[in-house]
Amino acid sequence: MPIPTTFHHLHFNATDPKAAADWYAEHFGMEAIPVDDRLTAAWFPGTDDRAPCTFLWSRAQAPGPSIGTTLDHYGWSVEDLDTDTQRLEAAGCELVGEPVTIGPSPTGDTLRISFLIDPFGVKFELVEDPDLLGFHHIHLLTPDTDGDRVQWINTFGGTAATFKGFLPGIRHEHSWVLFRESEQSLAPTSGRTIDHYAFGVDDVAVALTQLEDQGFSTRGPEPSSGGRTIGFVEVGTGASGAVTVELVQEAR
Ligand SMILES: [Fe+2]
Ligand SMILES: [Fe+2]
Repeated sequence: MPIPTTFHHLHFNATDPKAAADWYAEHFGMEAIPVDDRLTAAWFPGTDDRAPCTFLWSRAQAPGPSIGTTLDHYGWSVEDLDTDTQRLEAAGCELVGEPVTIGPSPTGDTLRISFLIDPFGVKFELVEDPDLLGFHHIHLLTPDTDGDRVQWINTFGGTAATFKGFLPGIRHEHSWVLFRESEQSLAPTSGRTIDHYAFGVDDVAVALTQLEDQGFSTRGPEPSSGGRTIGFVEVGTGASGAVTVELVQEAR
């Protein structure tokens, strides 16, 4: 049985975590929350049409880019892709994929997307998906889309689905995990600008034991800020570099 999970946060490394959180507060409508000297958060409070979302930054010396790792980019959904692409480019992002419309897919859907790199070395995708605005997905590259998708669902739950008829993925409650076939040799996420993806769980110790029994390499449990307990698991198969996944248990 998979561990019951919910999306908790996406965790980045940055040379200046406060500058990164402040930038996201200004340009993504988030709220910057200093945690301590080492760690800074930006929080997107939930609204009627958007789920809440937390981004965290740890301080690191010149972390390598997300490109070249298994977790290539994250996706953020907006209502007007062209306006937001221009706005974010003017705010210091590097445009690496001009806005394009792809499709129609076999389900008749079309999709408008663009790709940028934020001022801190994180690649992200803007996507127009009115069904899920705000934080939208993480995009994993793998030589074995089907195998990795089955493994992820068996481990963390979620439902196998094809996003808009284009992309193999997993639908979690407030986000997607999407996959793209790649034969590239890829680096692990740990230490790069997108360091890890975090799920909330009921009991970290129980979850880690279950993951060890399944043969995963784990770390923890260990105490974290705000009375939380956290643990880590390295997920990845074959030639793809491991994706670090954090498990977070809220204070009891
Ligand atoms: Fe984290
Ligand atoms: Fe994507």
